[in-house]
Amino acid sequence: MRQNDRVRQVRRYKMLLCAAAGVAAGVLITFIAAKGVLSEHEQTLTTQNEALEKENEDLRTQVSKTEAVEDSASLLSSGSENWAIALVNEGHPLDTSYVPAEMTEIESERSVDSRIADDLKRMLSDAKDAGLSMYVASAYRSYEKQREVFNNTMQDWISQGYSPLNAYDETKKSVAVPGTSEHATGLAVDIISSEYEALDDRQGDTEEQKWLMEHCWEYGFILRYPSDKSDVTNIVYEPWHYRYVGKEAAKEITEQNITLEEYVLGQ
Ligand code: DAL
Ligand code: ZN
Repeated sequence: MRQNDRVRQVRRYKMLLCAAAGVAAGVLITFIAAKGVLSEHEQTLTTQNEALEKENEDLRTQVSKTEAVEDSASLLSSGSENWAIALVNEGHPLDTSYVPAEMTEIESERSVDSRIADDLKRMLSDAKDAGLSMYVASAYRSYEKQREVFNNTMQDWISQGYSPLNAYDETKKSVAVPGTSEHATGLAVDIISSEYEALDDRQGDTEEQKWLMEHCWEYGFILRYPSDKSDVTNIVYEPWHYRYVGKEAAKEITEQNITLEEYVLGQ
């Protein structure tokens, strides 16, 4: 009798154990399934969030590019973070009364918009540390100064026998028509090799320009008038003219091998 009781008791334990194991397995399966559903839901939300963030970023970029071509003077003097990509060219003149709010003298009589001074100084000092010798030959130019440069160049063409009209056309290939030069923004600099000071294509072959062309984007600058982009910029190859556009835009423009025109107008 006692033996039978023990057997029954053992059987009861076994049954209870099996039931408990069953319940535990059920709970576990439900938990795993719920977790699966949750993580799937979480994944969907993350994907949706990423897509919204991307859309937001694209819209922000679009707004900044629209701003960049609308009114350069307003953009440059506004508190907008897009000031550095303001487009100034023949088709996008700069208000002739625009003067950068604050300027910093980089070299004697060579000033730039103070917002780019630190990056420019760092670029020049890193180039010097790399054993190179260069200097800023031109930086901010007022409307009057640009007119002087333009007229002098035009006179040179006229004295070579060009008619005033042809001299004008020839001049504007290398000197921006007053009111359309980005030197007036204080964001453009002409940097010349001390080893070769001529402003011609061979300037681009100097070690100084090779270094600048390779590294300028790291400091927020771009070579503004590359040799293969004259049809876009309407300006001849100028291996000395660097324009500050900010580090983000400089990286993108360099990686995509495009001009500021193509960057902001999507040409
Ligand atoms: N040399 C450039 C195009 C300027 O005059 O602004
Ligand atoms: Zn220049």
